[in-house]
Amino acid sequence: MLIDPRTDSRALGLYVHFPWCIKKCPYCDFNSHPLKESTDQGAYLDALLSDWQHQYELLGEGRLAGTPLGNFTSIFFGGGTPSLFKPDYLHALMNEIPSLGAETTLEVNPGSAEYFSFEDYKAAGINRLSIGAQSFSNAQLAALGRVHQMQETLQAFERARGAGFDNINLDLMWGLPGQTVAGALADLQQAIDLSPQHISWYQLTIEAKTEFARRPPVLPKDGFLQDIETAGLALLADAGFERYEVSAFARPDKKSIHNLTYWSFGDYLGIGAGAHGKIGVEHRVVRTQQPSQPRLYQHNPRTIAPVPVNTEQRALEFMMNTLRLIDGVEQSIFEERTYIPWESIQTVWHELVTLGLVASDRCAPTPLGLRYLDSVLERFL
Ligand SMILES: C[S@@+](CC[C@H](N)C(=O)[O-])C[C@H]1O[C@@H](n2cnc3c(N)ncnc32)[C@H](O)[C@@H]1O
Ligand code: SF4
Repeated sequence: MLIDPRTDSRALGLYVHFPWCIKKCPYCDFNSHPLKESTDQGAYLDALLSDWQHQYELLGEGRLAGTPLGNFTSIFFGGGTPSLFKPDYLHALMNEIPSLGAETTLEVNPGSAEYFSFEDYKAAGINRLSIGAQSFSNAQLAALGRVHQMQETLQAFERARGAGFDNINLDLMWGLPGQTVAGALADLQQAIDLSPQHISWYQLTIEAKTEFARRPPVLPKDGFLQDIETAGLALLADAGFERYEVSAFARPDKKSIHNLTYWSFGDYLGIGAGAHGKIGVEHRVVRTQQPSQPRLYQHNPRTIAPVPVNTEQRALEFMMNTLRLIDGVEQSIFEERTYIPWESIQTVWHELVTLGLVASDRCAPTPLGLRYLDSVLERFL
């Protein structure tokens, strides 16, 4: 790891959003819209380039000068389904972005494999893939409204390896409609058998305004969910995957640098429709957010106005992120990234230590605190 964003505040990430998918999944509340024949990817590339230039002048230039090589530490193409973005366009964008040495991730939906070649993405500078497997049961994939079957996930993984990708994450979800403990473990085992470097294992949540919220599927009961979680965590640990965040598991040295930046309240810029950024400038923390609607965004991608984050919000956001990390961060990072003295939260922290919910010597949760994270965070409201 060139820079560890948990300890080194010079780290700087870049998030690039691609807001289209082949079809909207019924559980998903990400900013994604069905891709149409008429979707003009060239116009979106122009908007991204213009957005990048603007943010570079506004925030990036000075901030990048403070990173060790003047480059981003990590770049993340997320979505939506950025594997639908034409590789030539990705290439054109990457040519403009200081990326040498950066962990550069692309999210891939296995159902989009016919639209691209992994070799092209490699040539464009992508060095990490995050493949949305979700499940290896075709019945589950159908229930989740996915556009692919498990065979396509296996093929995508093989092709990615064949193209030389040696840093791959698999996204899996658990607690799926009608899922049994055996079914969830079979999914995990299949993922482990592929030997990825990283597994993200998310519990399915029903998000407001999604198809699943309108027509809720029957999910496993709480007792089952607990059994799935306990058995799944043991399986991942036995297979040598270290749990370093609530839902993230990695082989040694393969933690996601980009996600560690978010989880340690580090700095990142965000370009693209609906993209967020967060950056510390001159003892202030500011946020940026682009309009979610691709049409609105493309109409004027140079409108972002950084908004300062107030003191209470800064403390809460810091805790919401860092306490998801199993090992947390050093307490000194709190002041470094929020510009608030640790002493101002000392009393609350001490109470939480006494309750056995957080560590005394680090800004980190205990296993009990991780389980009751919402209650811990309430103390910072
Ligand atoms: C932007 S998507 C990943 C890339 C690509 N769009 C795909 O789905 O293959 C990010 C990941 O978040 C997870 N996710 C999305 N909605 C979720 C939900 N409601 N509950 C739990 N995990 C969810 C899925 O595992 C998904 O792969
Ligand atoms: S493919 Fe990914 S981003 Fe698109 S709707 Fe499905 S889960 Fe959401």
